[in-house]
Amino acid sequence: MQNKAVISIKNLWAGYDSDTILEDVSFEMFQEDYVGLIGPNGGGKTTLIRVILGLVKPDRGTISVMGMEPYQGRKHIGYVPQFQVEDKQFPISVWDVVAMGRLRPSIFANFRMSSSDKQAIETALDQTGMLEFRNRTMNELSGGQRQRVYISRALVTEPKILLLDEPTSSVDSHSSTQLYDLLAKLNDHIAILLISHDLTAISTYVKTIGCVNRRLVYSGTKEITSDMLDIAYECPVDLVAHGLPHRVLPSHQEGHQHD
Ligand SMILES: Nc1ncnc2c1ncn2[C@@H]1O[C@H](COP(=O)(O)OP(=O)(O)OP(=O)(O)O)[C@@H](O)[C@H]1O
Ligand SMILES: [Mg+2]
Repeated sequence: MQNKAVISIKNLWAGYDSDTILEDVSFEMFQEDYVGLIGPNGGGKTTLIRVILGLVKPDRGTISVMGMEPYQGRKHIGYVPQFQVEDKQFPISVWDVVAMGRLRPSIFANFRMSSSDKQAIETALDQTGMLEFRNRTMNELSGGQRQRVYISRALVTEPKILLLDEPTSSVDSHSSTQLYDLLAKLNDHIAILLISHDLTAISTYVKTIGCVNRRLVYSGTKEITSDMLDIAYECPVDLVAHGLPHRVLPSHQEGHQHD
């Protein structure tokens, strides 16, 4: 059977009003993929996620999610946004946060959840190791634990694709290692697209790396290529600063165009 792309983007241009943010982006992602996206602030990473979710319409080009228009295909996507509504001060329970991911018009209509809804919430909390915290309120959790609850909320619809926008930006290195271990496990059955400025983690955990700065440079490999250096000067500077293994740098950086 042919391996079909879960996300397919061709020659896409998109932005806000007359402001073009993404230019001529082409990208294919498959079920077994775990893609890390890097790039400078304002480069268009979150906008790309909004396009995939159908929240920003392309000006030119095509996009499909699970072979469908994004507004239909997004039911197969779990999404962990870059900025969460701050519920630290609000005493909502872990269970209720995850239950919100399950909300459908029918639940609004009769104000009750089915046993399959409850089972899905339990499974999603179990997957992230947060089931024992189900009755805690969000303000009683650490940042890393809260992030796990948000991942549970994204998992509760049993998605085929998980989009995570800077999931480790506010957690310490121990918690982020735990999060990356969790994501590696989830990647057994879920395609993952992860945006992060944490290049050390990206180069350790993801399978392939892309760079977004108006254009997307992505070749389906884990190498930081000279094209990426060209479109986003910030990438290699961070890379060097983080002391990453030399193998992620392309060999032609040393002056050899061909090996
Ligand atoms: N709703 C919006 N309306 C108009 N312009 C926007 C909107 N959201 C983002 N932008 C602009 O689009 C550009 C890309 O923003 P985007 O959030 O996609 O970048 P990013 O790569 O995710 O950056 P960061 O690393 O800081 O999260 C920025 O110049 C930003 O100001
Ligand atoms: Mg962003």
